[in-house]
Amino acid sequence: MARIVYVNGRYLPYAEAGVHVEDRGFQFADSVYEVCEVKGGALIDVTRHLARLARSLEELRIERPMADPALRHVLSEVVRRNRIRDGLVYLQVTRGRAPRDFVFPGPDTEPTLVVVARSIDPAKIAAKARHGIAVKSVPDNRWGRCDLKTVMLLPAALAKENARAAGAQEAWFVDEKGFVTEGASSNAWIVRSDGFVLTRPLDARILGGVTRSTLLDLIKQLGVPVEQRAFTIADAWAAKEAFVTSASATVMPVTVVDDRRIADGRPGTLTVRLREKFHSMAEKLPT
Ligand code: PDD
Repeated sequence: MARIVYVNGRYLPYAEAGVHVEDRGFQFADSVYEVCEVKGGALIDVTRHLARLARSLEELRIERPMADPALRHVLSEVVRRNRIRDGLVYLQVTRGRAPRDFVFPGPDTEPTLVVVARSIDPAKIAAKARHGIAVKSVPDNRWGRCDLKTVMLLPAALAKENARAAGAQEAWFVDEKGFVTEGASSNAWIVRSDGFVLTRPLDARILGGVTRSTLLDLIKQLGVPVEQRAFTIADAWAAKEAFVTSASATVMPVTVVDDRRIADGRPGTLTVRLREKFHSMAEKLPT
């Protein structure tokens, strides 16, 4: 089946889809995005994703390409037309196309909207979750507004590549004080030996993950003690469990950090429980 991509009002075959060479997303990374999980044909937590998108756009003064109901429709339509049951839908908005100039173009510049979807084999992610992943720490050399979901992802790509070369599947950024900020494409968590779940509080150094916020709701509902507090790599080594969260992996156990095993090196029991229960808390929008 031919893949279909949405670009600025049109549903196009994959090979024909493209944006202009002077699009500001291409030239300045002047652009934001969202990645939403698709499970059983439903969009997961789309309301929270669109709320975060609205915030990223507003903070960067990029015009909204369309209202939320229309955006939901486009997301659903791309999922439907590509017959995705399990996978991801990717949405990107740029400030639009304009002759190259650092300052913002005039108000008549229309934002670019691209939506792409792809299938992911759930069995592959499940197999990964059974073993857990290894993480490598790297200095956090990103900019000061990591709370905005921009496509300025070169430091994250370098960090992931660095991790891959070291045999790890994710990188954890570490700030100047030695505290973990977040993963290259996920939020970082540990379960301390006293049972408290820890994740860094929201500030400009991390992205407010949608999975993170839904999981915090679930953790509170389950009555598990939780604290939004930063932790170090040494704290992770001393922890009972560790995991990361993202739309693409939901709750993914971390079993190795910088070549050292966490506890017995197997996915933790609470982590596995949170992974199993995650979708009972998440919003599901049928497509
Ligand atoms: N990444 N932190 C960073 C830096 C991220 O890139 C992501 C998501 C997250 C988790 O956010 P959420 O739970 O809303 O997916 C945290 C997506 C999946 C990506 O870039 O592919």
